[in-house]
Amino acid sequence: MTPQAPATRDDLIRRRDAVAAEHGPWVGHNIHLGQGVYTIGDRVVGAENTAKHLLDLVGAIARKPLDRLRILDLGCSEGLYAIEFGLHGAEVVGVEGRAAPLARARFAQEALGLDRVRFEQGDAREATADRFGRFDVILNCGLLYHLDAPDVLRVFENMAGMCDDLAIVETHYAQTVTERFEYKGEEYFGISRREHEDGADPTTREKREWASLDNAYSFWMSKPSLVNALARSGFAAVTECLYPAILSYGDRETFIARMGEPRALRAVPLPGIFEDRFLPAIDSRRPLSSWVGQDHVDNPATTPQYFDTTSRDLDVMRRRLDTVDRRFDAVDDRLAAVEGGVRALDGRVAAIERRLDEAVPELARLSHETARVAAYSESLQGSVNDWLKGIWTALNASTVELGRAREEIERIRAQQRRPWFLRRPR
Ligand SMILES: C[S@@+](CC[C@H](N)C(=O)[O-])C[C@H]1O[C@@H](n2cnc3c(N)ncnc32)[C@H](O)[C@@H]1O
Repeated sequence: MTPQAPATRDDLIRRRDAVAAEHGPWVGHNIHLGQGVYTIGDRVVGAENTAKHLLDLVGAIARKPLDRLRILDLGCSEGLYAIEFGLHGAEVVGVEGRAAPLARARFAQEALGLDRVRFEQGDAREATADRFGRFDVILNCGLLYHLDAPDVLRVFENMAGMCDDLAIVETHYAQTVTERFEYKGEEYFGISRREHEDGADPTTREKREWASLDNAYSFWMSKPSLVNALARSGFAAVTECLYPAILSYGDRETFIARMGEPRALRAVPLPGIFEDRFLPAIDSRRPLSSWVGQDHVDNPATTPQYFDTTSRDLDVMRRRLDTVDRRFDAVDDRLAAVEGGVRALDGRVAAIERRLDEAVPELARLSHETARVAAYSESLQGSVNDWLKGIWTALNASTVELGRAREEIERIRAQQRRPWFLRRPR
């Protein structure tokens, strides 16, 4: 195909701006169209980092040189990755569900005269070998986290069904999980994310270019579920790409899924090896809590069985749990002591109650006796007063009598002290 390169730079800019006016401006993929003209501008926008990452990754690990690769770019948007691989000589099919980014991608492809790159409008969920043929490399970048369950699984199966070598899945994943779903008897864990409002009409959904096509929710799988899903879909090996590096969001990575034939183990020719590499059936699984503090963590939500780990973190956690255990033991001992004290107090209270039971009738008897004594004392009081008064009167009379007697004695003594001749005769 003859490149439809514009005759002049101004012509290129005019045509670019006409596409932008009709289909909207470029929003994410900044492509150099030639002659210093970019789709967005001569600055780094962001997706270039991913383009470089993918180029170096595929260039380093694909089984064929770039210019002999057939590549599928699912959810290609404005076509940067497809165009990049096309510029390196690969044959590329870009599939995009929305018309506007597709028009912009087609414009760039034409402007660059890439006759081995083509962009198709279609639903990535329906992309199969029947429609697009087979590929050495399938890119699923920035797409997976816009798909809902179980479409994520179906897309992986379709990818494995048309892949001869590599699938590159660059995606967000769930770091905490709240939901699980089953697909073909296997379970997957993750979280749901809102893509569109429930009532959003097709026009509104179409305009939200970097969202799902139509599904209101997407399902982000946990990393282990994502790996299991790729492996169960038919990929023989799944790895994470640490380098070539990409700017990380913290919950987003590039997974490399590779097709391959299963090989027989020759050094240990026993049946059953690796058959149980995935999670055991759900009803035979131990609850997460029973694993805490143990060497092997088999949290179905975060760690498939074959990711068993012995980590320093677990050792630290185990030591902390031991400390907490010891504290609980100490609290238990204190509680037991307090319980003993309460039991002893119970006994003393019962004894006091018994004494009170005995004391109450005794007190009643004493109070009755006291009333009787009080009445008796009152009756006695009158007669004792009379008696005392009699004694007092008698005493008074006796005193008077004694006074008289004393006077008489004095008179007699005085008489006896006079000489006899002065004494009066008696
Ligand atoms: C976040 S953008 C990512 C674009 C590009 N792959 C990248 O990594 O920069 C997601 C793209 O996938 C497209 N898309 C979402 N769901 C799709 C589907 N089911 N089929 C085809 N395209 C879809 C969107 O229209 C959008 O262009």
